[in-house]
Amino acid sequence: MEQWTIQNSIEQYRIDGWGAGFFSVNEAGNVSVTPEKDRSSVDLCNIVEDLVRRGIKPPHLIRFNGILKQRAQGIYEAFDKAMAEFEYKGKYILTYPVKVNQQRQVVEAVRKAGNGRGMGLEVGSKPELLAVLSMHDAPKGLLLCNGYKDYQFIELALMASKLGLRPIITVEQFYELDTILRASEATGVKPEIGLRMNPTSRGAGRWAGSAGENAKFGLALYEIVEAVKQLKARGMESCVKLLHFHMGSQITSINAIKKVMKEAARVYTELFRLCPAIEFLDVGGGLGVDYDGSCTNFESSMNYSTEQYARDVVWEIAEACNDLAIPHPTIVSESGRALTAHHAVLVTEVMDVAEVPEPPTVPDPLPSNDEKLKDLAALYRDLSLKNCHEVFSDALSMREEFLQLFIQGSMTLEERAFAERTLRNLFTRINQLKGKMKHVPEDFEALEGMLKDTYFCNFSVFQSMLDHWAIDQLFPIMPIHRLTTQPTRRAIIADLTCDSDGKIDKFIDLKGVQRFIDLHPYRGDQPYYIGMFLIGAYQECLGNLHNLFGDTNVVHVELDENGAPRITSIVEGDTIKEVLGYVQYTQEDLIHGVHTQIDRAVFQGTMSPEDSAKFMQRYKESLSGYTYLLWESPNGAGNAFNEPLKIAQGGQ
Ligand SMILES: Cc1ncc(COP(=O)(O)O)c(C=O)c1O
Repeated sequence: MEQWTIQNSIEQYRIDGWGAGFFSVNEAGNVSVTPEKDRSSVDLCNIVEDLVRRGIKPPHLIRFNGILKQRAQGIYEAFDKAMAEFEYKGKYILTYPVKVNQQRQVVEAVRKAGNGRGMGLEVGSKPELLAVLSMHDAPKGLLLCNGYKDYQFIELALMASKLGLRPIITVEQFYELDTILRASEATGVKPEIGLRMNPTSRGAGRWAGSAGENAKFGLALYEIVEAVKQLKARGMESCVKLLHFHMGSQITSINAIKKVMKEAARVYTELFRLCPAIEFLDVGGGLGVDYDGSCTNFESSMNYSTEQYARDVVWEIAEACNDLAIPHPTIVSESGRALTAHHAVLVTEVMDVAEVPEPPTVPDPLPSNDEKLKDLAALYRDLSLKNCHEVFSDALSMREEFLQLFIQGSMTLEERAFAERTLRNLFTRINQLKGKMKHVPEDFEALEGMLKDTYFCNFSVFQSMLDHWAIDQLFPIMPIHRLTTQPTRRAIIADLTCDSDGKIDKFIDLKGVQRFIDLHPYRGDQPYYIGMFLIGAYQECLGNLHNLFGDTNVVHVELDENGAPRITSIVEGDTIKEVLGYVQYTQEDLIHGVHTQIDRAVFQGTMSPEDSAKFMQRYKESLSGYTYLLWESPNGAGNAFNEPLKIAQGGQ
């Protein structure tokens, strides 16, 4: 076989498809990250090793603010180009919907990513509004207030105009109009109102239900007309400043975007007739991310580029307005996923592997004289390329039969163990023979599912990649080093949670979903790091505390003026006492409870006073420690505690 190269790894993991120019593999065989175009690349593995040396343990969530800047610039440039092409007279404002990732450092970095062009912020709840009010200081900075609102929310939003911001309160539900009017009267602030329409045209992709007839948000056209009527009756139609719609996130098909744009642009022109002070057309989110790099309308992909998106948005609005000779509105997009997904990578380490072993050429010695087991051993001995299809179906029915015999008590544990191991070895050998067949029988597909290694990794799917569990979203995943060698093990990834759903067994593929990932053999004495990419959108705030695995350590990496990578900030992950605090255990109560247990044990003589001191010391150390596991190598490198805790046997 030819020598494996880094190019093979780039193709194997389809990096050119999803990497968007930010990710590649360097000469050392490590993943490299180029956060800013035409500037230096960063060796991801070096960063992880540096962090480990500093005592910052994996899993690490690594954020590249340069990528945020680059993504924002890309979106702005796409709109600039489209506006120039279609002689568009209005402006474009990129607005970040903070729900996509509300972490303070992310919102701050996104604001800076506007790079002089400004960046609007969108909020969908009171907590989001309060967070944004503390940092949004751009003069006349756009503050879009979406989501369900109460009086308090609206009052605060209105008063934000006195801070120099430009809050626009979007009516999502008809009743909100009345609350806006009441709050406006009480505060003396003239509201700037957005109307959210509910487009009839549906999106395409997993969130298509966000638009269309039974959508949760937005006004029907008759409600928009009624809202305008009520405002007109008060002489307040000039308060209508914005028309908004959102057709769902991760729109996979450009045709769906064109269709909804036509409808929205028409509504805008009609609204302009009724409320000529209107200025903005807010096209919501939906700009997709090509997670699997297939460039198709598959759920984890998108069949268009940012440039095509911008062209279609600008063209449809320009055409509708030009037809009626009305001014081009300022276009706003609330592109959250497209802005943030690429900038964050989770790096986890493998803790252990359950490998599918290499099968022996002859069956193991029989544990008894059972006739059925003898038949199985004969099947194993006689397996050949010619009979392997027949042997496969016989083996499947034997598997069922052995289970029944065991349940009925006609088979011992040792006999069943022999059957189980022999069957697994038999399936492995059949799978090996499969590679030599000209025509592979369809039912052999099941073999793939049976014969995969499990790589146990130090992370929680529920904390760091919730969408994989909840909605089968695919993310690019690959080792971040050893990429000059071929990955020879076929595997799935299991997390630390005691939940059978806590695993990743669906991976990106050009033709759909791949049920395994190829990884390198785990060597045990050295760390093996796996990166989970494009997780900067939605995953952090959706993540939960299943099994009390908390926030991971987070680091921010930027290039300094000389292009050298710098870790600009480290946010330590949750400690055990913090996550226990979330479920109402205070440190004081915990320590008091353990003291009580220890006192009893010392009194009863099951624990020596010396051991009680060590136990308490370890308990307190653990409370202040990370919720994830501490990787240990057999030679002691990276071990959790330098000095092992020796417990005296039998108390005194
Ligand atoms: C109203 C609104 N705007 C914007 C977004 C962000 O969408 P995306 O992340 O697809 O850009 C969402 C997310 O669902 C949304 O509900």
